[in-house]
Amino acid sequence: MLSPKLQDALNEQINAEMWSAYLYLSMAMHFEAEGRQGIANWYNVQFREEQAHAEILRNYVNSRGGRVILKAIAAVPTSWNGELDAFQATLDHEQKVTQLINNLYALAEAEKDYATRGRLDWFVNEQVEEEDNVRKIIDRLKLIGNDGLALYTLDQELGTRTYTVPSILATAE
Ligand code: FEO
Repeated sequence: MLSPKLQDALNEQINAEMWSAYLYLSMAMHFEAEGRQGIANWYNVQFREEQAHAEILRNYVNSRGGRVILKAIAAVPTSWNGELDAFQATLDHEQKVTQLINNLYALAEAEKDYATRGRLDWFVNEQVEEEDNVRKIIDRLKLIGNDGLALYTLDQELGTRTYTVPSILATAE
């Protein structure tokens, strides 16, 4: 059984993951409108990944006999000042999410809930990957500067990203 405190915190994290999904969907729509189809695709995949993160947590709360309470999803920004601005905002956001996961991890330890701590290991590793992916794109964008052809090439590349169901969900079905 999850402690009420941990259940509340996991529900908050579900809401944070849904907010992340909404943020990236908003970015996808922004870049769609800007004619950057590849970047829009990249954010669409990101949107689906965040929904998966929420689903992993939902499944986990249910598997522990807890109660998932869905809360309102706050409004998200709707436009960005170019590619670098959006990816920098993405990195800032992911760093905040990493902090949220770390806080949750610390709470699970304080509550001696080792099952929750174990499940959160997946999220700890995922955050390392998420931050690294975004950082690499930021580095590329800084090199690209105002080079339109190089930006076109990056857009094409990001257009090849595909969504893969995380194995933690694929095996649960
Ligand atoms: Fe669900 Fe991007 O962290």
